[in-house]
Formats: sequence, C-alpha cells, structure tokens
Amino acid sequence: MERLQKVIAHAGIASRRKAETLITEGRVKVNGEAIRELGTKVSKKDVVEVDGLPIFQEEPVYYLFYKPRGVISAVTDDKNRKVVTDYFPGVSERIYPVGRLDYDTSGILLLTNDGDFSQRLAHPKHQVDKVYVAKVKGLADKKNLYPLTKGIMLDGKKTAPARYDILSTDKKTETSIVQLTIHEGRNHQVKNMLKAVGLPVQKLKRETYGDLTLQGLRPGEYRSLNSREINSLLHQAK
Ligand code: URA
Repeated sequence: MERLQKVIAHAGIASRRKAETLITEGRVKVNGEAIRELGTKVSKKDVVEVDGLPIFQEEPVYYLFYKPRGVISAVTDDKNRKVVTDYFPGVSERIYPVGRLDYDTSGILLLTNDGDFSQRLAHPKHQVDKVYVAKVKGLADKKNLYPLTKGIMLDGKKTAPARYDILSTDKKTETSIVQLTIHEGRNHQVKNMLKAVGLPVQKLKRETYGDLTLQGLRPGEYRSLNSREINSLLHQAK
C-alpha cells in the first residue's frame, strides 16, 4: 500500500506537492470515488483517476544516461529530431529527463518516471553540484574566471558562486579547457556564465551530477541507478 499522493507522483503526473493539491481539490478518484484525504493509502489493484483519466501505477525507475551531442532533452520533438527517450526502446515506463542539457551539450542526464524525485532534484533551492567541462574560445586565466567564484549578474539575477579549474590552455588555437562546478540549473547557464567573462563555449559536457559520474558508459548508453545512489541524490538535494 502506498500513499495516494506518492502513487500520483510516481506515475509522473505531478510532484507530490501538486498531487496533494489535486487530491484536496477533489480531482482524484479511487475506485470511482472522489478522495480528499491526504493520508489515504491505495494498492496496485485500486483504480486511481486524475481528472477522470485512470493512471497506470508504474514501478518507479531511475536511469543515468550518457546523452550524446545532437539530441533533445525531451520525450518528443515537433521538428522530428532525436530525443533522449529514443535511446530507451526497451523501457516501457513513461520516463522523462530530470532537467535538461542543451541539444549540443553531451554528458550525464537522469531520466525517471518519478515526478516527486524529479521535482526535488530540479528545485532551485535543492540542486546538487554538477561538474561541466567546456572548451572555450580564449585563454582562460584566474583573472577572467575569478568573477564566477563571486557570482555574476545573468538576466538580472546573480548566479551562485561557482568553482573552476583550468585544465589546459592552447596558445596556438587560442582555446582553453575549463572545468566549472555549479549547482544551479538556469537555461544555458554555463554557456552564459563563460560568455559573460569573455570565454565563449565551443563544446560542453556535463561530467558529474552529485556524486554520479559517466564511468563505464559511452555516449548513447544508460544504466539503472541503484537504491544507494537514489537515496544519496535525495539526501544531497535536501
Ligand atoms: N549549461 C549550459 O549552458 N548548457 C547545458 O546544456 C547545461 C548547462
């Protein structure tokens, strides 16, 4: 038996908090009867409906995916480009990405059907550290990267302090490889931060997500997260 709001969140319909609102608004039925009690428990045999539509009680699944460049972080694309779920043909659960990586960014991306998990990790206040490696135009040095450790204004809002490491610089091509650790997840954040300090990004990869790495995976491959990894992520996202 599971709490009703958890079942709704696990089905990917809404976060647990949103599910609670759906319940108190009387939009959830169990076996045909509207239920407004938040503590209600249901089993796999119960028919749960949200706004008149039955939900399928899927087991929650969690995957770590090595997203290649040239793939959309979505489950469908109106321009018919490749989407991340194209790499999961054998997975029948309705998974979707937790947050996003740009079309031309590669690296670590989590996918799940657990709305509660996804919401928790994507919440701006609870985000875990992510390490990005960027090839940038320009010669990176302490002077141009230092402002990022204090936070800079992007779209009228200051970024949280970031950590950086200069992995290499190439005087001939005037390019550098820079590692940047941030915990926020604003749109194009790494590209915008590096551009703002005069180092436009040519290539970007997300190497880690919390303590998860891409070890053992090639672009386009995925693996399941184990319960220790799931709990550790949730703990880091507190
Ligand atoms: N920052 C970016 O600019 N792009 C990404 O895909 C992820 C973080």
